[in-house]
Amino acid sequence: MRILAIESSCDETAAAVVEDGRKVLSSVIATQIKEHIIYGGVVPEIASRMHTQAISGVVDRAVSEAGLGYSDLDAIAVTYAPGLIGALLVGVNFAKGLSMSTGLPLIPVHHLRSHIASNYITHPDLEPPFLCLVVSGGHSHIVEVRSYTDFSVIGRTRDDAAGECMDKAARAMGLPYPGGVNLDKISVSGNPEAYVLPRPRVDSSEYDFSFSGLKTAVINLIHKASQKGEEINVPDLGASYISAVVRCLCDNTFKAAETFGYKKIVLAGGVSANSVLRRRMQEMCAERSMQLYMPELSLCGDNAAMVGAQAYYEFLNGNIAGLNLNACATMPIED
Ligand code: KG4
Ligand code: ZN
Repeated sequence: MRILAIESSCDETAAAVVEDGRKVLSSVIATQIKEHIIYGGVVPEIASRMHTQAISGVVDRAVSEAGLGYSDLDAIAVTYAPGLIGALLVGVNFAKGLSMSTGLPLIPVHHLRSHIASNYITHPDLEPPFLCLVVSGGHSHIVEVRSYTDFSVIGRTRDDAAGECMDKAARAMGLPYPGGVNLDKISVSGNPEAYVLPRPRVDSSEYDFSFSGLKTAVINLIHKASQKGEEINVPDLGASYISAVVRCLCDNTFKAAETFGYKKIVLAGGVSANSVLRRRMQEMCAERSMQLYMPELSLCGDNAAMVGAQAYYEFLNGNIAGLNLNACATMPIED
């Protein structure tokens, strides 16, 4: 089954053709980084306009690069939630138009489910059940993936997402957008023990995260240093900060894995590209004889191939939308 998938939840306009949930026939991504860089972050209104300009060409390219025509496709899939509402609406309405004009079924895909599904492309042998740490710009979840379409959230952030914190700390350190990637790069040479940062804990939950205190601690540290005219060592502070975030992510994930009896651990979302997180997860899985699955780097950030992968399993589960499908800015992964 060949699915044409569309993704426009944030700042990438993407389309892909994926066969039977695992084989990527084409994947096109038009990134908006250049447009948002001067503002230091994604400007929703600009994102929506850029999607509108790009979507038609991106979708056409995905179909032609797959060596196919529209008549060779079996379904249209689209990210409908969660994300920036104006951005999501562009993809959803384009997909609805395509579904109507081609007569192909329309498959709605949850953005976080698709991040998890990026692993089905990288690891053809991976099947649920497994435990997944999903870390993106807007979400930090520990999720039980019971089947391809049955999810249960064990832990979540009580405030900021891990990616959002990476971005805000990077900005405070004077690094350009996209903050997380640049923080990762500059911190490679830093000493993670150089700065002492708080170890955030959430009362009454072993698996939930709280990152806002850590973010505020870094911002305060930078402000205090600048008031005193002291230099901040950015690689050292970046490395210390990443190390603190990664420690929280890994500690809670492995606590959950042990309590809920999972031996298969999966990483997903934009922050899964982080070099320290990938290394630490590898070490911790090896120490516990657990199997680790991570998406290849090209599939960590937003793309449409992962949407096509998840859409296949949504289709098999009978999840087909009507033309009244709407975009939603927020939506639990379980729904
Ligand atoms: O999944 P994603 O591409 O978009 C959302 O669904 O939000 O995740 C984007 C987030 C951003 O916050 C970005 O800074 C972060 O992922 N990110 C990273 C790295 N690459 C992307 N954070 C840390 N290290 C990285 N290498
Ligand atoms: Zn994402």
